[in-house]
Amino acid sequence: MLLLLLTLLFVIGAGAGSSDDIYIYHRAGDEVIMSCNIVDSSETSCSIINWLYNRDTSGTHTIVRDGQINKVSPQADKLSLDHRCSLTITNISSEDAGRYICRYGNTYEHDTNVYLNILTLSADQSTDPVGGVTLTCTLWRHTYISCEEHSLRWLDEERDELKKDDDEVHYSGQMNCVSHLTITHQSNHSRRYTCQFVKSNEVKISANYTLVSTVDLTSDSTSNKMIIIIIGASVGLLTILVIVGLTVFITSRRKTGAAEEGVCVCVCVRVRVRVRV
Ligand SMILES: *[C@@H]1O[C@H](CO)[C@@H](O)[C@H](O)[C@H]1NC(C)=O
Ligand SMILES: *[C@@H]1O[C@H](CO)[C@@H](O)[C@H](O)[C@H]1NC(C)=O
Ligand SMILES: *[C@@H]1O[C@H](CO)[C@@H](O)[C@H](O)[C@H]1NC(C)=O
Repeated sequence: MLLLLLTLLFVIGAGAGSSDDIYIYHRAGDEVIMSCNIVDSSETSCSIINWLYNRDTSGTHTIVRDGQINKVSPQADKLSLDHRCSLTITNISSEDAGRYICRYGNTYEHDTNVYLNILTLSADQSTDPVGGVTLTCTLWRHTYISCEEHSLRWLDEERDELKKDDDEVHYSGQMNCVSHLTITHQSNHSRRYTCQFVKSNEVKISANYTLVSTVDLTSDSTSNKMIIIIIGASVGLLTILVIVGLTVFITSRRKTGAAEEGVCVCVCVRVRVRVRV
């Protein structure tokens, strides 16, 4: 935020009424402040200021008219204007992306154009038979803003770029300004993935997603199953051994009177099986 303000101050300092467009990058949930270049410090009122908004060519909406928030604008609840006529939007969401224009009266020669770009990162349980989780990274923006190939990058926890498929991830590439990454095999307890938007070799914005792995749960239930199988097998084996032992016992008792030997065989076998479990 400080950086943004400094950038805006620099822009103002570089020449009031500059026609240079301003590009800002944020994550959903952020609070955004957009300054109006044409307003200088001597201005005491914003009554001559309008803020307009558009996202594509379908139409421009007036969100601030003569210094007043337009109550019927869908964003009205989140908007406010400060004494320098800067526009603040709280808790931005993907729908707020687009172009904001600060206009002095009805003349548009001195418009300030601010392009608000918003990065979102979400996760969905994959419908893929392999399972896993699909992360979706999207840069929401005005339709004027181009999104070059490979402008959305994925990094793993070690900050290495994930470029192609490997054992753990399936990268399905970038479509326009949307990129999907499917994590198929979750080898580790929890892992952080980062999505970056890069323009002119500069990271403009990034977002992290920490995947809480289900591996532990899966391996737990697997080992539980294993234990059940082992116990089941042991009980079965024990039963057979008891029968064998009893047979030996009865047989030897019939033959001679050496009953103790037979009992001993039976007990020893039991002890040995328990130790193995
Ligand atoms: C921010 O907006 C989202 C919807 O866009 C909403 O779910 C959330 O509760 C809001 N948060 C706050 C603090 O208002
Ligand atoms: C988890 O990942 C980290 C970093 O990739 C690695 O150093 C560690 O050995 C892994 N732990 C397990 C249990 O795989
Ligand atoms: C993402 O994680 C990295 C490494 O911990 C951190 O430097 C960066 O600030 C995080 N980014 C966000 C947007 O939280």
